[in-house]
Amino acid sequence: MNELASMAQIGALTDPTTHAEFLTFVLKDQWLTVDDINDALSQLPGIQKSIRQKDPSANISVTIGFSANAWPLLFPDLSLPAELHVFPEMTDGARHFPSTAGDIFLMVKSERKDLNFQIAKYSAKALSGVADLTEDIQGYKYLDNRDMIDFVDGTENPIDEERLESVLVDDENDTYRGGSYLVVQRYIDRQSLWDDQPTEHQEKVVGRTKMDDIELDDEEKPVWAHNNKSKVEIDGEEVKMYRQNRPYGNAIEHGTMFVGFSKTPSIIETSLTQMINADENGDYDRLLDFVEAKTGASYFVPSQSFIDAHFDD
Ligand code: HEM
Repeated sequence: MNELASMAQIGALTDPTTHAEFLTFVLKDQWLTVDDINDALSQLPGIQKSIRQKDPSANISVTIGFSANAWPLLFPDLSLPAELHVFPEMTDGARHFPSTAGDIFLMVKSERKDLNFQIAKYSAKALSGVADLTEDIQGYKYLDNRDMIDFVDGTENPIDEERLESVLVDDENDTYRGGSYLVVQRYIDRQSLWDDQPTEHQEKVVGRTKMDDIELDDEEKPVWAHNNKSKVEIDGEEVKMYRQNRPYGNAIEHGTMFVGFSKTPSIIETSLTQMINADENGDYDRLLDFVEAKTGASYFVPSQSFIDAHFDD
């Protein structure tokens, strides 16, 4: 592991685990001092340590991010990370990406749902004086890393060195070196509409084969395929984000938590713009006919060294 990687919050870089719990907190609408918030957040490392000790083999990691709204309240002496801003709402035609509240985001990953739940429960209790838990989504590995639209998700993610380069801010002079920008959207699947589509159409929508997860040839892949519209190129070169998506839910309602890490939020926002906006031929990402974004929020996930320096247990 190189020096930059050793600075990062480990969960930002590691592969998705069997279980993941995604917690969104909104700071209370009342006078809060820096000390109030810091005292609450400083309880989290201790909670994680005691629960991790119950089963080291569960591979628990907790990744924390803060919104542009929260940052000045938490760190009044520091400037905002250069590109941290509120998630921009987007609309085109019938398609809508809402921008929703979220000040502190916790991503708990491990092999055990019960231990994730304990971390969630005690973290919510520790923060209860300063922030409300507004969403708690329990995601899980489905089959061979499929979304509930039954396609494998994550195949084209960057790995190894390329992942580090995609995810981490790497500016020597930056207090925020080793951190990452994070965009989170919760989607609901329109499952019955999706299930009504023939497999060949579903494969065109995703841009890959369903069973074997192979990319379609250029002649077969429509411009409106998800993997065409979501791919971002700068000067003809593909630039990647790292997606730690997890499906969640049950037979009544389910979908995907989109959890995208990047050294700059502009890559993720470009991808979203390409997906939602119809081009001159009226083509947009056809996956959006079958999934609906219910939330959208942006965070900065500072380095582990930054977290250790600010929140001591
Ligand atoms: C319900 C929501 C979503 C579902 C079910 C979904 C599913 C998929 C699937 C099945 C693939 C193909 C396998 C892979 O390479 O991972 C894929 C690729 C990809 N998705 Fe999504 N996705 C969703 C939302 C998003 C969003 C919101 C973004 C961007 C902000 C995004 C960006 C990408 C990218 C960049 C790729 C790789 C394209 C390539 O290089 O081939 N996805 N997604």
